[in-house]
Amino acid sequence: MALDRTSIPNDLSAFWMPFTANRQFKKNPRMLVAAQDMHYTTSDGRQVLDGTAGLWCCNAGHGRPKIVEAIAGQAGQLDYAPAFQMGHPLAFELANRLRDMAPEPFDHVFFTNSGSEAVDTALKIALAYHKARGEGGRTRLIGRERGYHGVGFGGISVGGIVNNRKYFGTMLTGVDHLPHTHLPENAFTRGQPEHGAHLADDLERIVALHGAETIAAVIVEPMAGSTGVLLPPKGYLEKLRSICTKHGILLIFDEVITGFGRLGSPFGADHFGVMPDMMTTAKGLTSGVIPMGAVLATGEIHDAFMSGPDNLIELFHGYTYSGNPIASAAGIATLEIYREEGLFQRAADIAPYWEEALHSLRGLPHVIDIRNMGLIGAIELEPIEGEPTKRAFDAFLKAYDKGLLIRTTGDIIALSPPLIIEKDHIDTLIGELAEILKRLE
Ligand SMILES: Cc1ncc(COP(=O)(O)O)c(C=O)c1O
Repeated sequence: MALDRTSIPNDLSAFWMPFTANRQFKKNPRMLVAAQDMHYTTSDGRQVLDGTAGLWCCNAGHGRPKIVEAIAGQAGQLDYAPAFQMGHPLAFELANRLRDMAPEPFDHVFFTNSGSEAVDTALKIALAYHKARGEGGRTRLIGRERGYHGVGFGGISVGGIVNNRKYFGTMLTGVDHLPHTHLPENAFTRGQPEHGAHLADDLERIVALHGAETIAAVIVEPMAGSTGVLLPPKGYLEKLRSICTKHGILLIFDEVITGFGRLGSPFGADHFGVMPDMMTTAKGLTSGVIPMGAVLATGEIHDAFMSGPDNLIELFHGYTYSGNPIASAAGIATLEIYREEGLFQRAADIAPYWEEALHSLRGLPHVIDIRNMGLIGAIELEPIEGEPTKRAFDAFLKAYDKGLLIRTTGDIIALSPPLIIEKDHIDTLIGELAEILKRLE
């Protein structure tokens, strides 16, 4: 018997939902049952405009036939191939296409299943790289306050979101954090803020404290997304790059959100013109359709492992589903859509309209900051005294009732629509949001 995919199941208790207020949700569930292009369909038959590309991932929009066909065809052809000591053509093909798309120094790709795994993989590669070169004393990892690098132990250790850390014990040792880059004087900046490049100098303090010879890598999001869209001040990433280079420290850009056109360029590294040594990706790699992540590494990093007898495994790391055939097929189809439809350029072209629309919300009740870059926007609200997060979450619930999917982190509304968004969608999204903000308590 076919499964009923449209109605709400009569028992919601078994599924322990991630990053969700489970009890609240289950009293009043918000259930999506279908999606096409810019819209979701809810279980009560309503259309909801996707203002967040799912979770920052469905960059090509929903229900794209090319991706659907690639997945179906591959499932029938070769459902699974062992990932260790065996291969299948599509993983190599996808790696080649990623190499061709990425800035020049990135010519090797290690596949994972998620952003969290990509982050932990990159951190492990950084440690093993130094060891392979005879600098095994470089064991420290440096993250940043308010950084989000997924939920593995590596990712939460270098991450800087307090609630993601404080319940989970001691995490990795030997981790330090840079200060975040969110300065009140930058409020209502359009694009990259003016003030704050000096915050990168804190890396020199950390180096002086621990000794450069103990530090393996620095990891940052080139633009911090999940914490509420914190943009890098002008000159900040350049400074981080030069301090890392000076001290032989690897720089990792976590591009899980900024990769695949979100800023109007293939990667944040292209957008900002600053090259890290590794990039972590996921989400837009398959337009969110199938779980997949990837670490892109330079030839210098990769080649440091390629010594010793060639019958020995060079990196003791990998996942059962690294480069899974169906995920690879989805990834190839997704990259083809991006190229054929020029979606990254499209995002760049529509970004000024997006910026204008977002900043038209300035002056509405409770709005204390608006930030934007590429097809990302954030509207920060003044928290209700004694009830942080409530005001923005109320906006989220009201938006959902009105047929909009937005996302909130703390009291920040974050928007990141699919790159296929049209101007009239932007008008609807921002226009409806303005009405909601006007009536918010
Ligand atoms: C910058 C960044 N890194 C890592 C992750 C984790 O990715 P995943 O949820 O696929 O594990 C995310 C997810 O939002 C992210 O934004």
